[in-house]
Amino acid sequence: MADALKIGIAGLGTVGASLVRILQDRHEMLATTCGRAIEIMAVTARDRSRDRGVNLSEIKWFDDAVSLASEADIDVFIELMGGAGDPAYSAVKAALQRGIHVVTANKALLAAHGIDLAGIAEEHGALLNYEAAVAGGIPVIKALRESMTGNTVSRVYGIMNGTCNYILTKMEKEGLSFEDCLKEAQRLGYAEADPAFDIEGNDTAHKLSILTSLAFGTAIAADDIYLEGITNISIEDIQAAADLGYRIKLLGVAQRTESGIEQRVHPTMVPYDSVIAQVDGVTNAVAIESDILGELLMVGPGAGGNATASAVLGDIADIAKSRPGAQHVPAFGRPATALLPYKRARIQSHEGGYFIRLKVLDRTGVFANIAGHMAENDISLESIMQHSKHYVDSAEPKTIILVTHATFEASVRKAIVAIKGEGYLVGEPQVIRIERPKAV
Ligand SMILES: NC(=O)c1ccc[n+]([C@@H]2O[C@H](COP(=O)([O-])OP(=O)(O)OC[C@H]3O[C@@H](n4cnc5c(N)ncnc54)[C@H](OP(=O)(O)O)[C@@H]3O)[C@@H](O)[C@H]2O)c1
Repeated sequence: MADALKIGIAGLGTVGASLVRILQDRHEMLATTCGRAIEIMAVTARDRSRDRGVNLSEIKWFDDAVSLASEADIDVFIELMGGAGDPAYSAVKAALQRGIHVVTANKALLAAHGIDLAGIAEEHGALLNYEAAVAGGIPVIKALRESMTGNTVSRVYGIMNGTCNYILTKMEKEGLSFEDCLKEAQRLGYAEADPAFDIEGNDTAHKLSILTSLAFGTAIAADDIYLEGITNISIEDIQAAADLGYRIKLLGVAQRTESGIEQRVHPTMVPYDSVIAQVDGVTNAVAIESDILGELLMVGPGAGGNATASAVLGDIADIAKSRPGAQHVPAFGRPATALLPYKRARIQSHEGGYFIRLKVLDRTGVFANIAGHMAENDISLESIMQHSKHYVDSAEPKTIILVTHATFEASVRKAIVAIKGEGYLVGEPQVIRIERPKAV
């Protein structure tokens, strides 16, 4: 049997401790599968005294991640600490500069420094693997980076944040408010004490930026993403969507357009009978539309210690099985220097259908006036209806719901500005984009 693959792990939390447990429990099985043993030589975390439910007594402890990455006798550095900055960034960089392969689950780090780190990896003949960074256990990185080589991707989209999907699913199924569902998600450990990063869409944006680079061969542009979270979605929107045959999901969408690549994260209405609409709870789904393969949809666990550690383990096993001196797969599917500059297509030019919910004063002619503003902006309506279910008292404002055929974002924004100027609106209009998956 070949020499053991020596690894060092920085971060022993949810994912790191699961990884250690799996590597220890399945040591023999992995040695047989990979043709060589995988040995944990070194570990680090913040608190050495914390019981992590795994035996670390035979493993060298480092007090900081950068020393581990710079000095430990290892072939692979596993980064499972998280965070876009230090120590994750400096530790990963130090390992790559030594020609040590890196496996990470850290989407924040890759969204901020992925291309820079990919360049360092190539320069030093090291691999940078990160399957766990997007959609946890779903093998979407490998699909885009390796399996779909030669395809031209037109669109990649998905449900990539389990917390948001859990909240939206629970709101719909149990008729509860956003706030109540968020509290429940926190109680169950699905949402952080500070959930802003998930519910405002940033986490999905980080993951989307990585997929965009892989799908379109462009440099990562995490700051060039149109971002809307789910905090404004009300139970009324969810019920109106259901009445119209849709469900609301937080989607990350990246697509090729004539003017560049459009990246957006926002609540989206998807037809009730589409497969993506049926993805419930903390489950993730990623769809890729391309010219040779057609449409690929992958659904599975997007988070959790074991599911994420499974993806990390797959990356480690790839390295263990690779032949010495073999050509390495570039981190973003093509050499870092061959990645194209990202050209942003503004969401103003996005063409799709829209759901618009307006709360209006009960005045004669309002209905016709709204329809008029839509027509002035060349927006053709699929339906317009007064939704009185929730407002039985005639003195109360009325809710009007419009569903448009495919139209431009800029036209919708113009129509809304005009309607706002009429003086009959109560509160802010709700606008939710409609996405029509090709086949699923
Ligand atoms: N959890 C998931 O379901 C999931 C899914 C996909 C991707 N990920 C990614 O996987 C990574 C790890 O996530 P996690 O959920 O396992 O996080 P976690 O439970 O918070 O664990 C983080 C670990 O890193 C250690 N750590 C933090 N700062 C450190 C520092 N400055 N120096 C040394 N060690 C430090 C912590 O040490 P102490 O234990 O001593 O505090 C802890 O062991 C993140 O990048 C995350 O985005 C997680």
